Amino acid sequence: MNTTLVSAAQSETVSRTPVWFMRQAGRSLPEYRELREGTTMLGACRTPDLVSEITLQPVRRHGVDAAIFFSDIVVPLEAAGVSVEIVPGTGPVIEHPVRTRADLDRLEDLTPDAITDIAESIRRVRAELDAKHPDTALIGFAGAPFTVASYLIEGGPSRNHEKTKAMMLGDPQLFSDLLAKLGRMSATFIDVQVSAGAQAFQLFDSWAGYLSAADYRRFVLPHSAAVFSSLSHHAVPAFHFGVQTGELLTDMASAGCDVVGVDFRVDLADASRRVRPGQALQGNLDPALLFAPWDVLRPRIEEIVRAGLDHPGGHVFNLGHGVLPTTDPAIPGLIVEEVHRVSQQLLSA
Ligand code: CP3
Repeated sequence: MNTTLVSAAQSETVSRTPVWFMRQAGRSLPEYRELREGTTMLGACRTPDLVSEITLQPVRRHGVDAAIFFSDIVVPLEAAGVSVEIVPGTGPVIEHPVRTRADLDRLEDLTPDAITDIAESIRRVRAELDAKHPDTALIGFAGAPFTVASYLIEGGPSRNHEKTKAMMLGDPQLFSDLLAKLGRMSATFIDVQVSAGAQAFQLFDSWAGYLSAADYRRFVLPHSAAVFSSLSHHAVPAFHFGVQTGELLTDMASAGCDVVGVDFRVDLADASRRVRPGQALQGNLDPALLFAPWDVLRPRIEEIVRAGLDHPGGHVFNLGHGVLPTTDPAIPGLIVEEVHRVSQQLLSA
Protein backbone atom coordinates (compact mmCIF):
# COMPACT_ATOMS: atom_id res chain seq x y z
CA MET A 1 0.00 0.00 0.00
CA ASN A 2 1.30 3.42 -0.94
CA THR A 3 1.48 6.15 1.68
CA THR A 4 -0.70 9.24 1.13
CA LEU A 5 2.39 11.25 0.17
CA VAL A 6 3.50 8.78 -2.48
CA SER A 7 -0.05 8.54 -3.91
CA ALA A 8 -0.33 12.35 -4.18
CA ALA A 9 3.13 12.52 -5.79
CA GLN A 10 1.99 9.96 -8.37
CA SER A 11 -1.16 12.01 -9.10
CA GLU A 12 -3.44 9.34 -7.62
CA THR A 13 -6.63 10.05 -5.66
CA VAL A 14 -6.04 10.79 -1.97
CA SER A 15 -8.37 11.46 0.98
CA ARG A 16 -6.31 14.42 2.23
CA THR A 17 -3.49 16.68 1.05
CA PRO A 18 -0.23 15.31 2.46
CA VAL A 19 2.13 17.78 4.14
CA TRP A 20 5.76 17.96 5.29
CA PHE A 21 8.20 20.83 5.75
CA MET A 22 11.64 21.31 4.27
CA ARG A 23 14.14 21.56 7.18
CA GLN A 24 11.53 20.17 9.61
CA ALA A 25 14.33 18.18 11.30
CA GLY A 26 16.74 20.64 12.79
CA ARG A 27 17.34 23.84 14.65
CA SER A 28 13.72 24.86 15.23
CA LEU A 29 13.20 21.90 17.60
CA PRO A 30 14.46 22.08 21.23
CA GLU A 31 14.71 18.26 21.33
CA TYR A 32 17.06 18.48 18.30
CA ARG A 33 19.31 21.09 19.94
CA GLU A 34 19.51 18.90 23.03
CA LEU A 35 20.44 15.78 21.06
CA ARG A 36 23.06 17.62 18.99
CA GLU A 37 24.97 18.96 22.02
CA GLY A 38 28.66 18.04 21.82
CA THR A 39 28.60 16.71 18.24
CA THR A 40 29.63 18.34 14.98
CA MET A 41 27.01 18.55 12.24
CA LEU A 42 28.85 16.11 9.94
CA GLY A 43 29.63 13.80 12.87
CA ALA A 44 25.91 13.68 13.68
CA CYS A 45 25.06 12.95 10.02
CA ARG A 46 27.29 9.85 10.10
CA THR A 47 25.91 8.40 13.37
CA PRO A 48 22.86 6.18 12.63
CA ASP A 49 21.44 6.49 16.18
CA LEU A 50 21.41 10.29 15.94
CA VAL A 51 20.28 10.44 12.32
CA SER A 52 17.28 8.17 12.90
CA GLU A 53 16.25 9.95 16.09
CA ILE A 54 16.55 13.45 14.52
CA THR A 55 14.70 12.33 11.39
CA LEU A 56 11.82 11.00 13.53
CA GLN A 57 11.51 13.97 15.91
CA PRO A 58 9.31 16.10 13.63
CA VAL A 59 7.15 13.07 12.77
CA ARG A 60 6.32 12.60 16.45
CA ARG A 61 5.91 16.29 17.21
CA HIS A 62 4.11 17.61 14.11
CA GLY A 63 2.32 14.55 12.67
CA VAL A 64 3.69 15.24 9.18
CA ASP A 65 3.03 12.85 6.27
CA ALA A 66 6.73 12.46 5.52
CA ALA A 67 10.06 12.25 7.28
CA ILE A 68 12.93 13.96 5.44
CA PHE A 69 16.19 12.08 5.97
CA PHE A 70 18.51 14.07 8.25
CA SER A 71 21.77 14.67 6.44
CA ASP A 72 23.35 17.44 4.36
CA ILE A 73 24.17 18.01 0.72
CA VAL A 74 27.92 17.94 1.51
CA VAL A 75 27.83 14.49 3.20
CA PRO A 76 28.57 12.66 -0.11
CA LEU A 77 31.55 14.99 -0.71
CA GLU A 78 32.96 14.18 2.72
CA ALA A 79 32.36 10.46 2.15
CA ALA A 80 34.27 10.75 -1.14
CA GLY A 81 37.27 12.21 0.70
CA VAL A 82 36.77 15.98 0.29
CA SER A 83 37.90 17.94 3.34
CA VAL A 84 34.75 19.84 4.34
CA GLU A 85 33.46 21.25 7.57
CA ILE A 86 30.05 22.68 8.45
CA VAL A 87 30.79 25.86 10.38
CA PRO A 88 27.92 26.85 12.72
CA GLY A 89 26.16 29.98 11.46
CA THR A 90 28.10 29.93 8.16
CA GLY A 91 27.48 26.62 6.42
CA PRO A 92 29.75 24.22 4.52
CA VAL A 93 33.38 25.32 4.12
CA ILE A 94 35.67 23.41 1.70
CA GLU A 95 39.40 23.31 2.50
CA HIS A 96 40.61 22.97 -1.11
CA PRO A 97 38.10 24.46 -3.57
CA VAL A 98 37.88 22.90 -7.04
CA ARG A 99 38.92 25.46 -9.67
CA THR A 100 41.24 23.71 -12.13
CA ARG A 101 41.39 20.49 -14.16
CA ALA A 102 43.96 19.10 -11.68
CA ASP A 103 41.56 19.85 -8.77
CA LEU A 104 38.79 17.99 -10.58
CA ASP A 105 41.06 15.00 -11.33
CA ARG A 106 41.75 14.71 -7.58
CA LEU A 107 38.02 14.49 -6.79
CA GLU A 108 37.17 10.83 -6.16
CA ASP A 109 33.91 9.12 -7.09
CA LEU A 110 31.56 8.11 -4.25
CA THR A 111 31.21 4.37 -3.77
CA PRO A 112 28.28 2.77 -1.89
CA ASP A 113 30.64 1.06 0.57
CA ALA A 114 31.79 4.50 1.79
CA ILE A 115 28.23 5.22 3.04
CA THR A 116 27.04 1.98 4.62
CA ASP A 117 26.12 4.10 7.69
CA ILE A 118 23.64 6.04 5.51
CA ALA A 119 21.91 2.79 4.50
CA GLU A 120 21.84 1.74 8.15
CA SER A 121 20.29 5.07 9.20
CA ILE A 122 17.58 4.72 6.53
CA ARG A 123 16.77 1.15 7.65
CA ARG A 124 16.38 2.31 11.27
CA VAL A 125 14.01 5.14 10.34
CA ARG A 126 11.94 2.84 8.13
CA ALA A 127 11.67 0.21 10.86
CA GLU A 128 10.18 2.73 13.28
CA LEU A 129 7.91 4.32 10.66
CA ASP A 130 6.59 0.92 9.57
CA ALA A 131 5.90 -0.03 13.19
CA LYS A 132 4.41 3.23 14.48
CA HIS A 133 3.60 5.56 11.56
CA PRO A 134 2.80 3.34 8.56
CA ASP A 135 1.26 6.19 6.51
CA THR A 136 4.36 8.40 6.91
CA ALA A 137 6.78 8.20 3.98
CA LEU A 138 10.56 8.51 4.24
CA ILE A 139 12.02 10.96 1.72
CA GLY A 140 15.70 10.69 0.79
CA PHE A 141 17.61 13.53 -0.83
CA ALA A 142 20.76 14.89 -2.38
CA GLY A 143 21.98 18.25 -3.62
CA ALA A 144 21.72 18.81 -7.37
CA PRO A 145 25.03 19.07 -9.26
CA PHE A 146 24.90 22.87 -9.68
CA THR A 147 24.22 23.62 -6.00
CA VAL A 148 26.95 21.23 -4.79
CA ALA A 149 29.33 22.63 -7.44
CA SER A 150 28.76 26.13 -6.13
CA TYR A 151 30.01 25.15 -2.63
CA LEU A 152 32.93 23.24 -4.13
CA ILE A 153 34.05 26.03 -6.49
CA GLU A 154 33.43 29.00 -4.17
CA GLY A 155 34.87 27.14 -1.16
CA GLY A 156 31.79 27.93 0.92
CA PRO A 157 28.43 29.69 0.89
CA SER A 158 28.31 32.46 -1.70
CA ARG A 159 26.00 35.40 -2.21
CA ASN A 160 26.66 35.89 -5.93
CA HIS A 161 28.21 32.60 -7.13
CA GLU A 162 30.77 34.60 -9.15
CA LYS A 163 33.56 31.99 -9.26
CA THR A 164 31.00 29.34 -10.22
CA LYS A 165 29.70 31.44 -13.11
CA ALA A 166 33.24 32.37 -14.16
CA MET A 167 34.04 28.66 -14.60
CA MET A 168 30.67 27.90 -16.21
CA LEU A 169 31.19 30.56 -18.90
CA GLY A 170 35.02 30.65 -19.05
CA ASP A 171 35.74 26.90 -19.12
CA PRO A 172 32.46 25.18 -20.00
CA GLN A 173 34.17 21.81 -20.55
CA LEU A 174 35.70 21.78 -17.05
CA PHE A 175 32.38 22.93 -15.57
CA SER A 176 30.48 20.23 -17.45
CA ASP A 177 32.92 17.50 -16.38
CA LEU A 178 32.62 18.68 -12.75
CA LEU A 179 28.81 18.66 -12.83
CA ALA A 180 28.81 15.21 -14.46
CA LYS A 181 30.99 13.86 -11.63
CA LEU A 182 28.86 15.52 -8.95
CA GLY A 183 25.72 14.21 -10.64
CA ARG A 184 27.05 10.64 -10.38
CA MET A 185 27.84 11.31 -6.71
CA SER A 186 24.29 12.57 -5.98
CA ALA A 187 22.79 9.63 -7.86
CA THR A 188 24.86 7.16 -5.78
CA PHE A 189 23.88 8.95 -2.54
CA ILE A 190 20.17 8.71 -3.46
CA ASP A 191 20.47 5.18 -4.86
CA VAL A 192 21.84 3.95 -1.50
CA GLN A 193 18.97 5.67 0.36
CA VAL A 194 16.23 4.32 -1.91
CA SER A 195 17.73 0.82 -1.99
CA ALA A 196 17.71 0.86 1.84
CA GLY A 197 14.05 1.92 2.04
CA ALA A 198 13.46 5.62 1.21
CA GLN A 199 10.04 5.81 -0.51
CA ALA A 200 10.67 9.06 -2.44
CA PHE A 201 13.59 11.41 -2.99
CA GLN A 202 14.13 15.12 -3.52
CA LEU A 203 16.92 16.70 -5.55
CA PHE A 204 17.68 20.13 -4.00
CA ASP A 205 18.93 22.66 -6.53
CA SER A 206 18.77 25.43 -3.95
CA TRP A 207 20.87 27.95 -5.89
CA ALA A 208 19.64 27.31 -9.48
CA GLY A 209 17.52 30.46 -9.17
CA TYR A 210 20.72 32.51 -9.53
CA LEU A 211 20.88 31.48 -13.22
CA SER A 212 19.09 32.85 -16.27
CA ALA A 213 16.79 30.34 -17.94
CA ALA A 214 19.10 30.17 -20.98
CA ASP A 215 22.18 29.41 -18.87
CA TYR A 216 20.21 26.93 -16.73
CA ARG A 217 19.06 25.05 -19.85
CA ARG A 218 22.50 24.97 -21.42
CA PHE A 219 24.85 24.36 -18.50
CA VAL A 220 22.83 22.76 -15.70
CA LEU A 221 19.61 21.04 -16.80
CA PRO A 222 21.34 18.19 -18.70
CA HIS A 223 23.26 17.22 -15.56
CA SER A 224 20.19 17.28 -13.28
CA ALA A 225 18.27 15.32 -15.94
CA ALA A 226 21.07 12.71 -15.91
CA VAL A 227 20.59 12.25 -12.14
CA PHE A 228 16.83 11.63 -12.52
CA SER A 229 17.40 9.37 -15.51
CA SER A 230 19.95 7.21 -13.69
CA LEU A 231 17.46 6.72 -10.83
CA SER A 232 14.37 6.12 -12.98
CA HIS A 233 14.54 2.34 -12.50
CA HIS A 234 13.44 2.89 -8.89
CA ALA A 235 9.63 3.02 -8.72
CA VAL A 236 9.63 5.95 -6.26
CA PRO A 237 8.49 9.53 -6.91
CA ALA A 238 11.20 12.09 -7.65
CA PHE A 239 10.89 15.67 -6.32
CA HIS A 240 12.85 18.64 -7.69
CA PHE A 241 13.14 21.98 -5.83
CA GLY A 242 15.05 25.24 -5.99
CA VAL A 243 14.73 28.69 -4.42
CA GLN A 244 13.56 31.63 -6.57
CA THR A 245 13.01 29.38 -9.56
CA GLY A 246 9.72 30.80 -10.90
CA GLU A 247 11.44 31.72 -14.18
CA LEU A 248 12.96 28.22 -14.42
CA LEU A 249 9.94 26.20 -13.34
CA THR A 250 9.04 24.78 -16.76
CA ASP A 251 12.66 23.80 -17.39
CA MET A 252 13.11 22.27 -13.93
CA ALA A 253 9.84 20.38 -14.42
CA SER A 254 11.25 18.92 -17.66
CA ALA A 255 14.27 17.32 -15.93
CA GLY A 256 12.52 14.00 -15.32
CA CYS A 257 10.84 14.57 -11.93
CA ASP A 258 7.34 13.59 -10.79
CA VAL A 259 6.86 16.50 -8.38
CA VAL A 260 7.90 20.11 -8.93
CA GLY A 261 8.73 22.10 -5.79
CA VAL A 262 7.44 25.66 -5.95
CA ASP A 263 9.16 28.57 -4.25
CA PHE A 264 6.94 30.85 -2.12
CA ARG A 265 7.24 33.77 -4.56
CA VAL A 266 5.19 31.99 -7.27
CA ASP A 267 1.40 31.78 -7.20
CA LEU A 268 0.51 28.07 -7.10
CA ALA A 269 -2.12 28.59 -9.82
CA ASP A 270 0.61 30.07 -12.09
CA ALA A 271 2.91 27.18 -11.22
CA SER A 272 0.10 24.84 -12.29
CA ARG A 273 0.30 26.30 -15.81
CA ARG A 274 4.11 26.01 -15.95
CA VAL A 275 4.34 22.23 -15.43
CA ARG A 276 2.88 19.24 -17.29
CA PRO A 277 -0.83 18.81 -16.36
CA GLY A 278 -0.09 15.34 -14.99
CA GLN A 279 2.83 16.46 -12.86
CA ALA A 280 2.34 17.05 -9.14
CA LEU A 281 3.22 20.32 -7.38
CA GLN A 282 4.77 20.83 -3.96
CA GLY A 283 4.62 23.99 -1.88
CA ASN A 284 4.51 26.80 -1.16
CA LEU A 285 3.75 28.65 2.08
CA ASP A 286 6.20 31.46 2.86
CA PRO A 287 8.28 30.26 5.87
CA ALA A 288 8.14 33.80 7.32
CA LEU A 289 4.33 33.53 7.60
CA LEU A 290 4.79 31.01 10.43
CA PHE A 291 5.56 34.10 12.52
CA ALA A 292 2.25 35.81 11.59
CA PRO A 293 -0.93 35.68 13.72
CA TRP A 294 -3.03 32.54 13.18
CA ASP A 295 -5.98 34.50 11.74
CA VAL A 296 -3.62 35.74 8.98
CA LEU A 297 -1.88 32.39 8.47
CA ARG A 298 -5.04 30.21 8.42
CA PRO A 299 -6.62 31.68 5.24
CA ARG A 300 -3.22 31.49 3.47
CA ILE A 301 -3.07 27.77 4.25
CA GLU A 302 -6.59 27.26 2.89
CA GLU A 303 -5.75 29.24 -0.26
CA ILE A 304 -2.78 26.96 -0.98
CA VAL A 305 -4.77 23.79 -0.24
CA ARG A 306 -7.52 24.95 -2.64
CA ALA A 307 -5.02 25.87 -5.40
CA GLY A 308 -3.38 22.47 -4.93
CA LEU A 309 -6.71 20.66 -5.28
CA ASP A 310 -7.44 22.66 -8.45
CA HIS A 311 -4.19 21.42 -10.02
CA PRO A 312 -4.93 18.24 -12.01
CA GLY A 313 -1.60 16.53 -11.22
CA GLY A 314 -1.75 16.31 -7.43
CA HIS A 315 -0.34 18.42 -4.59
CA VAL A 316 1.95 17.98 -1.62
CA PHE A 317 1.72 20.85 0.88
CA ASN A 318 5.07 22.27 2.00
CA LEU A 319 6.79 25.57 2.63
CA GLY A 320 8.33 27.51 -0.24
CA HIS A 321 11.76 26.99 1.41
CA GLY A 322 12.93 25.61 4.78
CA VAL A 323 11.57 26.11 8.31
CA LEU A 324 13.35 29.14 9.80
CA PRO A 325 15.47 28.39 12.90
CA THR A 326 13.51 30.66 15.27
CA THR A 327 10.08 29.28 14.29
CA ASP A 328 7.79 28.49 17.25
CA PRO A 329 7.84 24.65 17.27
CA ALA A 330 4.10 24.57 18.03
CA ILE A 331 3.15 26.13 14.65
CA PRO A 332 4.08 23.40 12.11
CA GLY A 333 1.78 20.90 13.87
CA LEU A 334 -1.13 23.36 13.71
CA ILE A 335 -0.51 23.77 9.98
CA VAL A 336 -0.54 19.98 9.49
CA GLU A 337 -3.93 19.75 11.25
CA GLU A 338 -5.33 22.62 9.20
CA VAL A 339 -4.10 21.23 5.85
CA HIS A 340 -5.65 17.86 6.71
CA ARG A 341 -8.92 19.38 7.97
CA VAL A 342 -9.47 21.73 5.01
CA SER A 343 -8.45 19.21 2.35
CA GLN A 344 -10.56 16.39 3.82
CA GLN A 345 -13.56 18.71 3.94
CA LEU A 346 -13.12 19.86 0.33
CA LEU A 347 -12.40 16.34 -0.95
CA SER A 348 -15.46 14.82 0.70
CA ALA A 349 -17.82 17.64 -0.43
O1 CP3 B 1 18.30 22.86 10.94
C1 CP3 B 1 19.50 23.01 10.73
O2 CP3 B 1 19.96 23.88 10.01
C2 CP3 B 1 20.50 22.10 11.47
C3 CP3 B 1 21.24 21.14 10.71
C4 CP3 B 1 21.97 21.63 9.48
C5 CP3 B 1 21.68 21.15 8.17
N1 CP3 B 1 22.58 21.70 7.31
C6 CP3 B 1 20.66 20.15 7.88
C7 CP3 B 1 20.18 19.96 6.51
C8 CP3 B 1 23.00 22.55 9.38
C9 CP3 B 1 23.63 23.38 10.47
C10 CP3 B 1 23.39 22.59 8.00
C11 CP3 B 1 24.50 23.37 7.45
C12 CP3 B 1 24.20 23.88 6.12
N2 CP3 B 1 24.40 23.17 4.95
C13 CP3 B 1 23.56 25.08 5.81
C14 CP3 B 1 23.06 26.08 6.80
C15 CP3 B 1 24.04 27.11 7.21
C16 CP3 B 1 23.50 27.86 8.39
O3 CP3 B 1 23.98 27.59 9.50
O4 CP3 B 1 22.59 28.65 8.20
C17 CP3 B 1 23.40 25.11 4.42
C18 CP3 B 1 22.75 26.21 3.62
C19 CP3 B 1 23.95 23.90 3.90
C20 CP3 B 1 23.94 23.41 2.52
C21 CP3 B 1 22.63 22.77 2.25
N3 CP3 B 1 22.15 21.67 2.94
C22 CP3 B 1 21.68 23.12 1.25
C23 CP3 B 1 21.82 24.23 0.26
C24 CP3 B 1 20.61 22.20 1.36
C25 CP3 B 1 19.40 22.11 0.50
C26 CP3 B 1 18.20 22.65 1.17
C27 CP3 B 1 18.16 24.15 1.40
O5 CP3 B 1 18.03 24.55 2.56
O6 CP3 B 1 18.24 24.90 0.41
C28 CP3 B 1 20.91 21.33 2.45
C29 CP3 B 1 20.07 20.22 2.86
C30 CP3 B 1 19.90 19.97 4.31
N4 CP3 B 1 20.65 20.45 5.32
C31 CP3 B 1 18.92 19.11 4.85
C32 CP3 B 1 19.10 19.10 6.24
C33 CP3 B 1 18.31 18.32 7.26
C34 CP3 B 1 17.92 18.28 4.06
C35 CP3 B 1 16.73 18.94 3.55
C36 CP3 B 1 15.61 19.26 4.48
O7 CP3 B 1 15.61 18.95 5.68
O8 CP3 B 1 14.63 19.82 3.97
